[in-house]
Amino acid sequence: MKIVITVNGTDHTRVVEPRLLLIHFLRDELGLTGSHWGCDTSNCGACVVWLDETPVKSCTVLAVMADGRRVTTVEGLAAGKALDPVQEAFAACHGLQCGFCTPGMMMTARWLLDQNPDPTEQEVREAISGQVCRCTGYENIVRSVLRAAKREGDDSDEPRLRSAPPQGGRAVHQGAGHVRR
Ligand code: FES
Ligand code: FES
Repeated sequence: MKIVITVNGTDHTRVVEPRLLLIHFLRDELGLTGSHWGCDTSNCGACVVWLDETPVKSCTVLAVMADGRRVTTVEGLAAGKALDPVQEAFAACHGLQCGFCTPGMMMTARWLLDQNPDPTEQEVREAISGQVCRCTGYENIVRSVLRAAKREGDDSDEPRLRSAPPQGGRAVHQGAGHVRR
């Protein structure tokens, strides 16, 4: 099937098999290897990207389902050379060790802060609860997200790096995954 997907603002046209998963489209067709393929069973969350403005586990989405839609990956978080505050906070707070979970964690964190600019620790933990980190014990990940929120709050008079929050929907858990519908 011929599909056109806008990934990080660029249109990509490809002919793909209907069974091709979005994570493989991103990594193998486009060479965007920032999104990781961990479990393939919707458990780990390393593959989280945004489909339009909704975080999805891209191992559970067919590439053809993204036809005509926008996908944002971790490569699309930074604005040029300016890191997103979430990326800066993960670096500052040592929010990663091996880094395997990090792209998905960052995408969910960015989505959370666009929805809720001043989350509580519990709300951060809830948001990432469908994603697995084998290294950090989650403490520094949570600290990173809270630091990014604080920085964005302190800089609230300055233009945000990312656009307005996504419209509608609510956070739900689908299996072990954090998605919106
Ligand atoms: Fe998608 Fe693990 S690879 S949830
Ligand atoms: Fe290694 Fe999270 S930093 S899995």
